[in-house]
Amino acid sequence: MLKQELDITVNKCTAEQCKPKPDEEHLGFGQYFTDHMFTMRWNKDKGWHSARIEPYGPFTLTPATLVFHYGQAIFEGMKAYRGADDRIYLYRPLDNFERMNRSASRICMPPFPKESVVNALKSLVYLDRDWVPRSAGATLYIRPVMIAVEPNVGLRAALDYLFFIITCPVGAYYPEGFKPTKIYVEDKYVRAVPGGVGEAKTAANYAASVLAQKEAKDKGFSEVLWLDGVERRFVEEVGTSNIFFVIDNELITPPLQGSILPGITRDSVLQLAKSWGGKVSERSVSIEEVMAAAESGRLQESFGTGTAAVISPIGELTYQDHTVQINHGEAGPMAQRLYDELQAIQFGRQDDPFGWRVPIA
Ligand code: COI
Repeated sequence: MLKQELDITVNKCTAEQCKPKPDEEHLGFGQYFTDHMFTMRWNKDKGWHSARIEPYGPFTLTPATLVFHYGQAIFEGMKAYRGADDRIYLYRPLDNFERMNRSASRICMPPFPKESVVNALKSLVYLDRDWVPRSAGATLYIRPVMIAVEPNVGLRAALDYLFFIITCPVGAYYPEGFKPTKIYVEDKYVRAVPGGVGEAKTAANYAASVLAQKEAKDKGFSEVLWLDGVERRFVEEVGTSNIFFVIDNELITPPLQGSILPGITRDSVLQLAKSWGGKVSERSVSIEEVMAAAESGRLQESFGTGTAAVISPIGELTYQDHTVQINHGEAGPMAQRLYDELQAIQFGRQDDPFGWRVPIA
């Protein structure tokens, strides 16, 4: 495990450099960025160095920079929440950075000292604390990224890396908010295969998904449901989220077998639901099983889980010209309870028996 203290230089915005805050009622997702960012560099001789909190601004990179050519890039998605007591909380930040280090190792990037980066993140969010929204449901989205920055067009692991964190105040990820989405079951394109990079949060996974997403959106759907890359039969993920079903009162999500992102929200949902009792399973579920359960009225609910999307109920599934409604197109009681309880923990409105919340200052 890499332990390293980071010596962070802080260079604050001048009053003129500070930007006006956006209207919290119309934040959308990912359009506004706060005043500061965190950056650090890596090379073989110095390891992680030049850690800085500095004014948000552009990078200068030469056209030969490796990430532009072969996409050696990984990222994370996290949030900061403003509680009713006006304190600001992070949610499971070490788990996100642990996953980021696993993503790094999958595409030959150096590991970073996750505890020190959590401390850097706390300082960054504290400095930009006035950007953490106060309106209901709005949060500060946190985007840590690592890219290969060595100028070289030979294909190999780069020798220089840039790690940065930017933050942005956001509202709901889907324009539908908590309203159920219409999902297209994708059987032409696949997102990931066993042995590939599907379980790592690499930029490449997301690039590979945009064509299917666009085609589905053009047909009037919100997102696609991905099937496994070998048989195109077993359910994997929905859009940018993990997926859950409730069939005959059993809460089911596909197991982590290498091609699915190990979501932090997925894990939180599993832990919460297990603590309530009832049957909770991580098991393979085929699209035939889902459609048959829907036809016979045994599919009670389905929803996606993710940092950006939180809990996103699914109201309709279309698979090969066949459409089924789920819970009459309404959010179900399990999705509602999970959403309410998770948000109550994240915003500090209720006890945190799992120790997920990390207060800032
Ligand atoms: C997240 O849920 O945080 C993600 O990283 C998905 C992204 C496409 C917004």
